[in-house]
Amino acid sequence: MEEGGGEEYLFKIVVIGDSAVGKSNLLSRFARDEFDHNSKATIGVEFQTQVVELDGKEVKAQVWDTAGQERFRAVTSAYYRGAVGALVVYDISRKTTFESVKRWLDELNTHCDTTVARMLVGNKCDLENIREVSVDEGKSLAEEEGLFFIETSALDSTNVNKAFEIVIREIY
Ligand code: GTP
Ligand code: MG
Repeated sequence: MEEGGGEEYLFKIVVIGDSAVGKSNLLSRFARDEFDHNSKATIGVEFQTQVVELDGKEVKAQVWDTAGQERFRAVTSAYYRGAVGALVVYDISRKTTFESVKRWLDELNTHCDTTVARMLVGNKCDLENIREVSVDEGKSLAEEEGLFFIETSALDSTNVNKAFEIVIREIY
């Protein structure tokens, strides 16, 4: 999408994944450098816009966050409409959230075409001592599904900006 004089770009990126994997905290870390230990489950849809500088040009990332819990989700088609990037998030300390990734990808594929830049994100990598999903498992799934792969921690900031920047760079 191009805006104004052609110097500015606005990209819609959606963040999806099971409840409590850390989607909202990834977003608040990226947009405001904030982390909430007691964050509540998201209800409906929220978004934040963050300006990123890439190769001397300003790129606006509009990052959309919704509830992982079905009962709190808003209209799905509206959420995905116009998205050019997607972060599919699981929690490395909870295997079930990794097993759900395929379902999230199915939903993404139903609503977006294959040109959407996709990143598989294993969040909470600070929880190494209770890890249930290995780095190799994450990598293999990403390879199988044709996604980028990264592990992040919204808590200690590891790779959070990088995850968004890789996706934005791919779109851009
Ligand atoms: P829904 O809105 O219900 O879909 O959940 P969510 O995916 O937005 O999860 P949220 O960001 O609310 O985080 C859930 C819990 O995990 C909170 O208690 C956070 O503090 C915690 N959390 C998020 N990211 C991390 C992380 O990188 N490391 C650790 N240790 N905890 C995290
Ligand atoms: Mg949330």
